[in-house]
Amino acid sequence: MLSSDHAEIVRATLPAVVAHGVEITGEFYDSMFVAHPELRNLFNQGNQANGEQRRALAGSVAAFAEHLVTPDSGVPFQQIMSRIAHKHASLGIRPEQYTIVGRHLLEAVGTVLGDAVTPQVHAAWSEVYWLFATLLIAEEARLYQEAACGPATPYRTWRVVERRDEARDVISLVLAPADGGAVPAHLPGQYVSVAVTLPDGLRQPRQYTLSRADADGTVQITLRRVRGTDGSPDGAVSTYLFEHAAAGTELEVSAPFGDVVLADEEDPLVLISAGIGITPAAAMIDRLAAAGTGRTVLAVHADRSPAAHALRGQIAEAGRRIPGFRQVTWYEEPGDATPGEGGDVRRGLLDVAALGLPPKARVFMCGPLPFLRETRRGLLEAGVSDERVHYEVFGPDLWIR
Ligand SMILES: Cc1cc2nc3c(=O)[nH]c(=O)nc-3n(C[C@H](O)[C@H](O)[C@H](O)COP(=O)(O)OP(=O)(O)OC[C@H]3O[C@@H](n4cnc5c(N)ncnc54)[C@H](O)[C@@H]3O)c2cc1C
Ligand code: HEM
Repeated sequence: MLSSDHAEIVRATLPAVVAHGVEITGEFYDSMFVAHPELRNLFNQGNQANGEQRRALAGSVAAFAEHLVTPDSGVPFQQIMSRIAHKHASLGIRPEQYTIVGRHLLEAVGTVLGDAVTPQVHAAWSEVYWLFATLLIAEEARLYQEAACGPATPYRTWRVVERRDEARDVISLVLAPADGGAVPAHLPGQYVSVAVTLPDGLRQPRQYTLSRADADGTVQITLRRVRGTDGSPDGAVSTYLFEHAAAGTELEVSAPFGDVVLADEEDPLVLISAGIGITPAAAMIDRLAAAGTGRTVLAVHADRSPAAHALRGQIAEAGRRIPGFRQVTWYEEPGDATPGEGGDVRRGLLDVAALGLPPKARVFMCGPLPFLRETRRGLLEAGVSDERVHYEVFGPDLWIR
């Protein structure tokens, strides 16, 4: 709860902060990286360059402020906070770093909004920041404790025991803890951060979903090499891993985190994915098959072509072990789709209305934001309410519905 005089000030200044949100967060990152160049190793520099992290931070702070001053605004604050906390925990964010971020963020508000930021306005937004920070620090402490790891040593060394080609520009890496220790417990849908030191010396972490159930003391990640388009550069970490990871390579890997996970329930499950967004669905199907599930599972995937469709052999194999499994795949270019792999194959873009969704479906989606928005619209039209739909985005969530 904000103190009442601060609530009035935040309500009055929220429109200006929202209107200049991306300018403020842009100024924030610029000044923070000048004062703390070492933090470049922590933040995804691709998301800095393409502006996504600025929008994500601005969007989350504005959503929190709105939630504070208008509690019935419908802002999905719990969901926003949980997503950020899991991402932070996978990166080993420490409580004392909140002081650095808070100082630069509040200074940036002053730099961008100028004289409008009186001492009272500064104090009110400082209270907003620290309320948010306190909630995140507490949630992150809980996650670190659950994962039995601490922010001081977020990474553990894992060894690649197998590299497999999955599809065009997609590989899987099978990983085992280098110290021979146990694979940490995790839920299907969770991801790890993998940190690599790039040829220019910059250390960069990225998240990769564990793409199957663990087996024989190993886990698997599956990654698509991101190729630059329209003048943008190739993806830094995916390209590096694609070019350098092989059996024997050691990688720094975090404990598993992520809150878009299968719940223990019996409702029919619908998994909808596009492109490399298939990895959480693949993990869920594999885990359900291993558990001998009696659930109805409909796996729906959209991809350019069979050649680009990753993990389809793994999913077809796991699907055969689930009695209620059905699969529908939409290819823009079906070409010579192999019968049996991809299930019922259709041409074109995914059409939710054509799926025949089971009643009381629990839906998980993963893919690019425009795909998720379009699919969500289709699901709403098909009568599936938002509380039954869960989604993962392979980048900062921009909270745009
Ligand atoms: C929860 C989660 C789970 C994920 N799971 C998976 C998974 O299972 N498999 C998988 O393959 N990926 C997954 N990802 C995505 C993954 O973490 C990386 O984002 C992805 O591999 C791209 O990283 P990169 O370093 O190769 O690209 P980056 O270097 O981060 O580049 C990303 C984009 O930004 C653009 N860009 C970079 N620099 C500039 C610039 N200067 N100007 C303009 N544009 C620029 C690039 O062209 C590219 O399009 C997941 C992400 C999240 C958040
Ligand atoms: C109240 C304070 C903070 C807020 C509101 C906040 C908000 C966010 C948001 C919205 C994301 C994107 C989550 C997603 O959708 O994936 C994020 C990611 C991140 N945050 Fe924070 N954060 C805060 C504090 C911090 C601190 C103290 C640090 C450490 C210096 C930090 C480091 C990061 C990093 C490294 C990422 C990943 C960025 C990327 O991959 O581009 N954050 N944060």
